[in-house]
Amino acid sequence: MDTLYTGHNLIRLQRVDSTNNYAAKLIQANKWADGTVIVAEEQLAGRGRNRKDWLSEPGKNLTCSFMFKVFSLPAKHAFVLNAAASLAVCDALLKFAPALNVRIKWPNDVFIDDQKVAGLLIESQIRGAFVESAIVGIGLNVNQTAFEFPRAGSIALATGQACDKDVLLTLLCSALEQNMLRLKSSPQHLMSRYNEFLYALRSERRFMIRGEEVAARLLSVRNDGMARFDIRGSVYSCELDDVVWRW
Ligand code: BTN
Repeated sequence: MDTLYTGHNLIRLQRVDSTNNYAAKLIQANKWADGTVIVAEEQLAGRGRNRKDWLSEPGKNLTCSFMFKVFSLPAKHAFVLNAAASLAVCDALLKFAPALNVRIKWPNDVFIDDQKVAGLLIESQIRGAFVESAIVGIGLNVNQTAFEFPRAGSIALATGQACDKDVLLTLLCSALEQNMLRLKSSPQHLMSRYNEFLYALRSERRFMIRGEEVAARLLSVRNDGMARFDIRGSVYSCELDDVVWRW
């Protein structure tokens, strides 16, 4: 493993309810090393954002959780963790296949062209006003080629060939470690790179914003996770819960 600490403690499971749940139990027991990684071939109760299930064909994809100790990140800027982690997925994918058109759909879905290939579920532990640790759960579609969800894709579909999951896992470990180190040294740099990778940036799309269907352009995302939209020439700041994409 080409990292300082990430992935040195690698826990491989055949089957688990959710790798994020497994990580949460390690934190509760207060027995874990920074950079611990849990990978499962199959999740029986994989979780996505907004209490949705995360479905993944057993053995085909990467379903994994990375555990990090976090230093000096104010809880009100916890969103920067999302930026760091989703950028790391992009960096790993571009190292794997540099020609891919990789984008981040706010807040942290990773797309290749118009297909979602990865979802992130980040669960952070807060102490006082600071983030103390974070579980970065990543579901990366690698070799699955059929999906129920119409806008889902995989690396195999994008590259036209079966891909080595372990190579991708190693790339994820080093990209995540680099960005976790940058959380402290250059959070602004992470946010500006995150903004450069945004899916549908400045292009007119249809959204439901606070219950009204509108044509709008995503302008930028701030370090508190709020997005700025241009709607009919005026700029509005919106929280994630205010916005639903219309495809
Ligand atoms: C989403 O797109 O809604 C986020 C999906 C996150 C899925 C990953 S798979 C590994 C980890 N364990 C879970 O139960 N969820 C995350």
